Amino acid sequence: MHKTQMGNPDTEGFLLDGPVADGQQLLSSNRVAVWWLSLDEIQDMDWGKLDSLLIEEERERSERFHFDRDRLVYVAAHAACRGLLSYCLGGSPLSWRFSVEDHGKPELVCSPGQPRYRVNISHTRGLAAVALSQEHDIGVDVEWRQRNAPADQLARRMFAESERLRVEAAAGAEKLDLFLGFWTLKEAYVKAIGKGLSQPLDAFAFDLETHEISFRDSLADRPANWHFERYRPGPDYLMALAVRHPDKSSLIVDARPAPLGYLLDLAGSEL
Ligand SMILES: CC(C)(COP(=O)(O)OP(=O)(O)OC[C@H]1O[C@@H](n2cnc3c(N)ncnc32)[C@H](O)[C@@H]1OP(=O)(O)O)[C@@H](O)C(=O)NCCC(=O)NCCS
Repeated sequence: MHKTQMGNPDTEGFLLDGPVADGQQLLSSNRVAVWWLSLDEIQDMDWGKLDSLLIEEERERSERFHFDRDRLVYVAAHAACRGLLSYCLGGSPLSWRFSVEDHGKPELVCSPGQPRYRVNISHTRGLAAVALSQEHDIGVDVEWRQRNAPADQLARRMFAESERLRVEAAAGAEKLDLFLGFWTLKEAYVKAIGKGLSQPLDAFAFDLETHEISFRDSLADRPANWHFERYRPGPDYLMALAVRHPDKSSLIVDARPAPLGYLLDLAGSEL
């Protein structure tokens, strides 16, 4: 498995009407890409541009959020998702269509005969994340670290025993980090399989050091099918990525901040 994690790519020279050379490469068959976008980086005057990357239905949904912070992170996540699909595949950000699966997972509608591109997004207070792959089931989860989560209580109710014991044995900030470490991995997995929280979280367990998954019912799924990564997209955030991939040794994962300059240029161009 190869990993790259890098700073904001230079936006100069990006093609706005076709896939960016770098973007096209990011979605080849043995690669997975995950980006994060911090709301702190977005200036007040740029929100209108990001808003213009949404389709009408998304804009209407964004307007129904009660709190501004929820609306803004929704806009950032969906604008980034549309913009990054265009970054990798070309075409207008407004052209992407999604179908919704049984448990609510949005899947990109792809033309017959073309590769099936997969996408998953996550948002938490102040940060959005977007993961893309070709064919492979993929799930991403980001969580804000300052949350006042009742870690012991949630671990007791929802985690596998080994995970619960680890959380209960820790104290202070370490307890929250352990809890969120397990939580992000678990959410990334249930999002990758598309079941969301309809999948009981105690039916599988993680080793936080190796990122290996194990299943209570060994027939349910195979650990060898899965690859997991954990990231710190900023001091206040934890993020995990789940990828179903048959050959981890050939998998390349790119993790980087989203190219905000590109997204804003894209919004400024004729859509
Ligand atoms: C999916 C779920 C785990 C998301 O958890 P979360 O931490 O609150 O949210 P995140 O920010 O990480 O992810 C939200 C995004 O995941 C995607 N998503 C929604 N359901 C999903 C699923 N079942 N699997 C994968 N991804 C899903 C969506 O893009 C969503 O963002 P959007 O609402 O802005 O489009 C959780 O909300 C869940 O299980 N919901 C289940 C809902 C359900 O079962 N509905 C059944 C009737 S349709």
